[in-house]
Amino acid sequence: MSQIVKGVIARSKDADVEVVDIVVPAPGPGEAVVKVEACGVCHTDLHYRQGGINDEFPFLLGHEAAGTVEAVGEGVTEVEPGDFVILNWRAVCGQCRACAKGKPWYCFATHNATQKMTLAEGDPMAGAELSPALGIGAFIEKTLVAAGQCTKVDREASAVAAGLLGCGVMAGFGAAVNTGAVTRGDSVAVIGCGGVGDAAVAGAAIAGATTIIAVDIDDRKLETAKRFGATHTVNSKENDPVEAIQALTGGHGADVVVEAVGRPETYKQAFYARDLAGTVVLVGVPTPDLEVTLPLADVFGRGGALKSSWYGDCLPSRDFPMLIDLYRQGRFDLDGFVTETIGLGDVESAFTKMHGGDVLRSVVVI
Ligand code: APR
Ligand code: ZN
Ligand code: ZN
Repeated sequence: MSQIVKGVIARSKDADVEVVDIVVPAPGPGEAVVKVEACGVCHTDLHYRQGGINDEFPFLLGHEAAGTVEAVGEGVTEVEPGDFVILNWRAVCGQCRACAKGKPWYCFATHNATQKMTLAEGDPMAGAELSPALGIGAFIEKTLVAAGQCTKVDREASAVAAGLLGCGVMAGFGAAVNTGAVTRGDSVAVIGCGGVGDAAVAGAAIAGATTIIAVDIDDRKLETAKRFGATHTVNSKENDPVEAIQALTGGHGADVVVEAVGRPETYKQAFYARDLAGTVVLVGVPTPDLEVTLPLADVFGRGGALKSSWYGDCLPSRDFPMLIDLYRQGRFDLDGFVTETIGLGDVESAFTKMHGGDVLRSVVVI
């Protein structure tokens, strides 16, 4: 049976978000309904609201969530009612060329629920189909997803902490560990220490990097980065970050540089701050209009690898439980990312705080 629940939508471009009544269908074949317990506010949600992703309004926002499976549809074997899950936005197909090559994190046929959640009776747009953010839509009491989007993890982890793995923290951690392949003894620089960059710092520390240099333009962010394992900090408003990183690495540059801002100037810094044959990992998401120019001779002359990292090149079924284990063992401070917990009605003010750089993460608790 379908049910009516409260959720947060962006009705039209740049309009403030609203809490409204939403119809959630009973799960069909391959689908699951998840009772959401917590969902972090990510920059991408704001992007949706601003019309920066596409114009398929109204959007059901939220995509960094954990909760409990309430019901599953026909043929679902991945999860069952009662399972504690983190929602992922890469339910891989298992059949495309990337999947067949054994690189499912590049899957280009990921899937979502086929049925749509809709606006309830009484709404001016009653019946309108919602576009869930990243195919999830989790600022809502219960959401409908593809069963493959549910990754089962240990129920003892708090939902607030677990949900963070669903997007930003996984992206940053994976950028360092999966894409950058940071290993023991490496020097690592992370440019931009918001939630994504700090997760890269934490990943580098857990992977055994010895020198971890946090770079940001905001001293508050540099202080926080130390808590996640940064051994050195550079305020790039006050110092040339390339020179500073070279000075801290014996004049060489870092083995791995993670760019977690998504701007041409910081990408260039990352490019020149790496050691010969070092790796640059771009995880900051650029807007489509941005371009960067680099002398081809410098690309040739430095060797190494220029990589981008999408969702931290993660495999949710492998990486989410691993990170939850590290968290429960006290080795990964997921709670350190949570600046505040808020209610469904506070998403708009969370966007404002995010914009001002005041929070690492606001997390909606439902
Ligand atoms: N140099 C260094 N740091 C910078 C610069 C700069 N020129 N400009 C901004 N920053 C810092 C900010 O001070 C902030 O600490 O980058 C950080 C960005 O953090 P958030 O805004 O919290 O964003 P976050 O969630 O970490 O995401 C970072 O990754 O997933 C993408 O879309 C996301 O592009 C974004 C990036
Ligand atoms: Zn695939
Ligand atoms: Zn996100």
